[in-house]
Amino acid sequence: MDESYVNLIVNRQGRVGVAQLNRPQALNALNSELMDELVHALHAFDADDSIGCIVVTGSEKAFAAGADIKQMANAGVVEMMNSPFIGYWDAVQRIAKPIVAAVSGFCLGGGCELAMTCDLIVASETAQFGQPEINLGIIPGAGGTQRLTRAVGKSVAMEMILTGRRISAQEALQFGLVSRVFPAASFMEESLKLAAAIADKAPVALRVAKEAVNRAFESTLAEGVLFERRAFNLLFATEDQKEGMAAFIEKRAPVWQGR
Ligand code: CAA
Repeated sequence: MDESYVNLIVNRQGRVGVAQLNRPQALNALNSELMDELVHALHAFDADDSIGCIVVTGSEKAFAAGADIKQMANAGVVEMMNSPFIGYWDAVQRIAKPIVAAVSGFCLGGGCELAMTCDLIVASETAQFGQPEINLGIIPGAGGTQRLTRAVGKSVAMEMILTGRRISAQEALQFGLVSRVFPAASFMEESLKLAAAIADKAPVALRVAKEAVNRAFESTLAEGVLFERRAFNLLFATEDQKEGMAAFIEKRAPVWQGR
């Protein structure tokens, strides 16, 4: 546990690094102080060879109820343009290790955008996802119009963004926004188990797999397939590929070196 964070609880569970948003008085509303700490913690996990996967989570009541409305309310257009605030979401996207967003309770606005910036989302049955910015006279500003549309398709994204309607965990599962929904009682345990299963895989292959899947959102099919082929071939230069295949043939568990 790192004592230097004010709005974050950071701990390590085996090879899983956990960053828990902790501003309970504001339902984890994301202000620049919290986002700065989060990005700092993610960079530290990314640089730590003993960590294989990262979990970003919140409280039982709220993953995050959005960007901090009180911090933004009086800002002008130039102030917003010059603000580094939205850049924190870009910084999360640049983390190389897999990040699981483990969502319980409210996951709204910038909070939903933060979860979508992570690599996969798992939810407690209590989770509620939404982009309610329209109710404030604005639109999502940290990637929501783009990432939600890619995740759930045009009609559902339009409905959520134009009406501000919140969707349940079950709806999020049905629409493909989340990969799993766990019972509230076992949600954290199951989320950590999933992250641990990821963290146990070959580190270089994990990093390259994340890059390759993300490439699907940034390129044509032909370019993406070419990227995948080069990345696939490149992994044959790693010791972990030799170990993984030798272990399969020798019917034993592989021991990854991360090189
Ligand atoms: N920013 C700042 N403070 C927030 C907040 C937010 N996004 N969400 C909640 N809070 C604060 C409330 O002001 C309240 O503080 P006080 O006790 O000091 O008044 C405290 O958290 C508890 O909130 P509520 O009393 O409202 O709790 P509730 O259970 O009645 O309602 C809720 C919960 C439905 C989530 C409601 O708080 C809410 O609608 N929050 C705002 C959601 C929202 O609009 N998010 C989008 C923000 S804009 C954005 O994110 C832009 C972007 O794309 C980057």
